[in-house]
Amino acid sequence: MINKQIHEFPIIYTNPIPKIALGWGAYQTIGDECKAAGMKKALIVTTGLKGTGIIEEIKGVINHAGVAMEIYDKISSNPKDHEIMAAYKLFKESQCDGVVAVGGGSSIDTGKCIRVIDANGGQHVNNFTVFLDPPFAETLKKMKPCTIPQISVATTSGTGAEVTSWAAISNTKAKAKVLVSGPNVQSTVAVVDPLLSRLQPRDIAAWTGFDALAHAIEAFVTKVQGPYSYGLLLRATEFIAQNLREFTYNRMSNTACERMAWASTMGGIAIGFGAGAGIVHGLGHQISALTDCHHGRINAVMMLAGERYNQPAITEKLAALTRAMGVDTTGMTEWEAADCWFDEIEQLLEDLEITPGQLNQQFGVEEKDLDHIVKVYSNDFCSQGNAKEFNYDECINLLKSAL
Ligand SMILES: [Fe+2]
Repeated sequence: MINKQIHEFPIIYTNPIPKIALGWGAYQTIGDECKAAGMKKALIVTTGLKGTGIIEEIKGVINHAGVAMEIYDKISSNPKDHEIMAAYKLFKESQCDGVVAVGGGSSIDTGKCIRVIDANGGQHVNNFTVFLDPPFAETLKKMKPCTIPQISVATTSGTGAEVTSWAAISNTKAKAKVLVSGPNVQSTVAVVDPLLSRLQPRDIAAWTGFDALAHAIEAFVTKVQGPYSYGLLLRATEFIAQNLREFTYNRMSNTACERMAWASTMGGIAIGFGAGAGIVHGLGHQISALTDCHHGRINAVMMLAGERYNQPAITEKLAALTRAMGVDTTGMTEWEAADCWFDEIEQLLEDLEITPGQLNQQFGVEEKDLDHIVKVYSNDFCSQGNAKEFNYDECINLLKSAL
């Protein structure tokens, strides 16, 4: 009887969202959170954040809580598989029982990978990548859940990685950026503190801030976006449109720092609520894998081309985003309002001194690279969620238009 009532409606899965400590001085809770999670010795995973004093400050807080620590500070942007394995080796050799990841997505995602590797017999991280084919649900079923805790301390306002259940890493042999996941991979606690994010250099603030906007926009226009994330994403877009310029050029603005911190986590939460990402992240990942360009910057560079490609399928959604960015669209058709979105993004990019497109001049991408980029993208989650169905020739043409 019940079976007959099942309609063609997809079952929506949400990912677990960690406990979040957000606010000025939230970093001071890190030691207590380590203790509460049962850590006796934490591995601090970071890029180093040299010159900011952040790591020294956090070491003091952890020490004060009576938790011992070791540090791995050699993570780079687009974290490489060999860096992750080196961090895992140190984790085991120094007998740590928890991770404190401090930084942007690279450090936080490395922490997640260490825990996935640890839960699954110490195998190489590339064994835990999830694709569309073979189906990721089958891959995940074979994996054991993460058991060691992770405190993720965001020092950028963009990645959202502190609240997501994926890690984006570079498979250096395959020259591909891939996703790693696993049961219970989400952070135990996410610490989001504007005191830390205001210490970013200007370019990183602009690029990671644009990554947060890319999450808000892409998650909103994906075909899997649903009611859970709708309001979150519009609000995140509004916060970023109102504050990213100020945040980039004046990180002493308390309001801009706070709003960007909120927007960053809201984008990550929405992605975890089933909204996912799309072609901008999907193609951007693979351009980063080839050229090691910054994740947020490449999303900014690809945004106009990616959504022009999607535009016929997302007119109403782009119109809603235009309104969220503060444009009065009264009297416009939805198509005209959607067109305004491109003007708003173009202006924002100019204000942030980011050049759209020009992939060859800016990053050295060549026409011969496009086939590899599109083929890897075709097996990425982002291609499944994108508003327009995957089409090889159209993707090649899109990249050519941005070359
Ligand atoms: Fe991103």
